Amino acid sequence: MKKEGEKKMGMKSDVQLIKDGKRIDGRNFDELRPLKIEAGVLHRADGSCYLEWGGNKVIAAVYGPRECFPRHEQDPLKARLTYRYNMAPFSVEDRKRPGPDRRSIEISKVSRQALERVVFLEYFPRTSIDVFVEILQADAGTRIAGITAASVALADAGIPMRGLVAGCAAGKVDDTVVLDLGKEEDNYGQADMPVAMLAGTDEVVLMQMDGDFSKEEFDQAFELIRKGIKQVYEEQKRALKEKYEKGIEGDINDQ
Ligand code: CDP
Repeated sequence: MKKEGEKKMGMKSDVQLIKDGKRIDGRNFDELRPLKIEAGVLHRADGSCYLEWGGNKVIAAVYGPRECFPRHEQDPLKARLTYRYNMAPFSVEDRKRPGPDRRSIEISKVSRQALERVVFLEYFPRTSIDVFVEILQADAGTRIAGITAASVALADAGIPMRGLVAGCAAGKVDDTVVLDLGKEEDNYGQADMPVAMLAGTDEVVLMQMDGDFSKEEFDQAFELIRKGIKQVYEEQKRALKEKYEKGIEGDINDQ
């Protein structure tokens, strides 16, 4: 979201975002910000995940399948999936007013629709699977950080899925297509395209766009995103493996 006085995505800005072939934070055009994922961090949730991506810090918690309330929302043929994306008041530079707003309602909706495509909801009729995503610190790219964490939390909860959902964004800054926009790039760049896919396939489950690309730029951005998503998927799998290896060791020690 832009502050007053900041330019709108798609307009040229005076801020120089690329210098000597490097981006403002020193990254190459095809380089992700550092990403670290941990699965199973909350003991009261059925599944959970903590994720740090650049300056973003995100917690995801999954509850369910559990009884669906209110009852009239029960579906006799499949589970209901809910997704709540929430930004903590202290997550951004200016305090964010607590509670839902238009932006968080939109992000919750597109993220829910993306996950509905991969979760086997028909296995759990009449129940609810509830996903909560809390943005503790925001630094551009939080919807993608959120859905990436949510997908790990769903796997951690043992919810059957066609696969993990992994996301990544690409954008345009100083007329150059780059991967995974940082905060300044998001504020002063010309375009931003967050994408989430069923990892390991070519299936897109979420795609949005702020600003605009030419056809060539779009193809270039999508190719970068594909490569970015591969790296994100590897980190998701590493986090889940680590959790279960630890779990098994823990069980042995408990005996
Ligand atoms: O976070 P994401 O890129 O998915 O969504 P956005 O609406 O494009 O927001 C970009 C960034 O603006 C966020 O990641 C936050 O860092 C910042 N923002 C903010 O400072 N205050 C808000 N109320 C909302 C977003």
